[in-house]
Amino acid sequence: MNDSIDQKRPSGSAAVTKAVVPAAGLGTRFLPATKATPKEMLPIVDKPAIQYVVEEAVAADLQDVLMITGRSKRSIEDHFDRAYELEEALEAKGDDARLRSVRESSDLAQVHYVRQGEPRGLGHAVLCAEAHVGDNPFAVLLGDDLIESADLLRRMIEVRERHGGSVVALMEVEPEQVSLYGCAGIEPTDEDDVVTVTDLVEKPAPEQAPSRWAIIGRYVCDPEVFPVLHETPPGRGGEIQLTDALRELAKRDPEDGGTVHGVLFRGSRYDTGNKADYIRTVVDFACRRPDLAEELLPWLRGFVDRAQRS
Ligand code: G1P
Repeated sequence: MNDSIDQKRPSGSAAVTKAVVPAAGLGTRFLPATKATPKEMLPIVDKPAIQYVVEEAVAADLQDVLMITGRSKRSIEDHFDRAYELEEALEAKGDDARLRSVRESSDLAQVHYVRQGEPRGLGHAVLCAEAHVGDNPFAVLLGDDLIESADLLRRMIEVRERHGGSVVALMEVEPEQVSLYGCAGIEPTDEDDVVTVTDLVEKPAPEQAPSRWAIIGRYVCDPEVFPVLHETPPGRGGEIQLTDALRELAKRDPEDGGTVHGVLFRGSRYDTGNKADYIRTVVDFACRRPDLAEELLPWLRGFVDRAQRS
């Protein structure tokens, strides 16, 4: 990066280099599996869900990853750390492939941790990143949404670097699904996949939704989101909502850290937030793995045939 250019940037408009990954949720939808294991560590085939998210951040050139964790999340830290005994054992056996897979997660990124003392919502989790992020724009990646390519995040960063303000990823959902998401009121721009966000509502009833464009769990936030979050009262579910803070920024002028753009996403997204979606994701990922597909696909076909007959 050219330092002289960087120094001329006004405060809050530096390059995006940091990713924030909220991982403090209690994972109650997956109990009892998540009683002692964080939801983020549940495997998608043989890799914990959270590793895919960190890989996506790194692929978008965000090497600095801050996880917002809480109690019972130690195994996340262990996963992104070296495991010397295991590595020695694999080395002694000459099991290079497994050794590589074990080292992959610890070599991936610079992972930092901060604890969210009490779970008070996504907005509150993001607020816990304030000291680490400082006066810089940053990305937020939610672990329940797995997005296979980093193109979306790269595009969002590029939109932020051109327009300033904040950027959310939007995907069109069925009307009966809008109440599961933050929904955006949007206006077109000159670019097909970029819109101006005029309004945001967290988990609206279908008749109150400003559109069917839902926020999927990728954001690029202007640092001005922090002072706004400090003032944001608890919203839906009694929690401090990131959507509410972004709504406030969408209504502000660009000079005050305002404007929110949306990048319209039409690629594959996997939701691991509830049991059925999680199982679909695992089956889908497994069927696309060359080492598993050959064995799994014929079995699945037979399984479906048998299930249809019974
Ligand atoms: C969160 C956000 C919501 C967003 C969703 C995407 O909700 O609050 O605005 O649409 O993630 O997955 P959650 O699913 O954590 O309840």
